[in-house]
Amino acid sequence: MSNSRFVEVVEDLERTLLDFIRKHGVTHSEYRQATDLIIDSIKAGEESLLLDVFFEAGATDVDNADLAGSMAAIEGPFYLEGAPLLQAPHVLPQRPAEKGDTLVFRGTVRTPDNTVLAGAELDMWQADADGLYSNIHPDIPDWNLRGRFTTAEDGSFEVTTIVPPPYEIPKGGPTGRVLNGLGRHFFRPAHLHLKVRADGFRELTSQLYFKDGDYLGSDVASAVRDGLVVELERTDSGYEARYDFVLEPPRR
Ligand code: DHB
Ligand code: FE
Repeated sequence: MSNSRFVEVVEDLERTLLDFIRKHGVTHSEYRQATDLIIDSIKAGEESLLLDVFFEAGATDVDNADLAGSMAAIEGPFYLEGAPLLQAPHVLPQRPAEKGDTLVFRGTVRTPDNTVLAGAELDMWQADADGLYSNIHPDIPDWNLRGRFTTAEDGSFEVTTIVPPPYEIPKGGPTGRVLNGLGRHFFRPAHLHLKVRADGFRELTSQLYFKDGDYLGSDVASAVRDGLVVELERTDSGYEARYDFVLEPPRR
């Protein structure tokens, strides 16, 4: 961010919040409750959760407004760098009897002019059948259902995992208090998270939802968009889904 952009944006944020305080007659005690909420969320390790639930989808919509590649999606608070690099046939790391229906997820990675990208990296993470993320929630082996793999010579990929369930965000902390106060539920529709990267292209953060899934219309993070919903098709051994990613060159 350039310095002039910083000044423009931060001064407008300052004006907007001061107007807001006047408009609602926010008292000093209410102001303190708000700052304490932010401090509490940091103490609880929930600052990303709190902000992402309310605001992250707004920023991805801005990125998506002029896009030549696949639609971007919220990252959410649970991405971690350094997931295990998988060899073909790709299977996301899982426990011996990982709960959930088997899902084979396939697709391709291409450029906007339809050239296939071989050796593009997909970095995938998701909740387990109980709606919990490894390395975040306790009692799950590190890197469970997180992994990186690359596309083949023809730009295609295939990975085997489980169908994630709708996900209930942590409700015992400060974010939960706010959502409770608003009378909202805590669910996100079932989703797969992916980052897709290839040398010379913009990294894409995606998130895919399943058609006809619960909470598609009432995601607590308001992040579902038509272009991110895939069909979940029944097979003999479970389910399959597919999505073709398009990466675009760097913008600036
Ligand atoms: C949020 C997003 C997620 O993908 C998730 O699993 C949990 C929370 C969020 O936007 O806060
Ligand atoms: Fe998630």
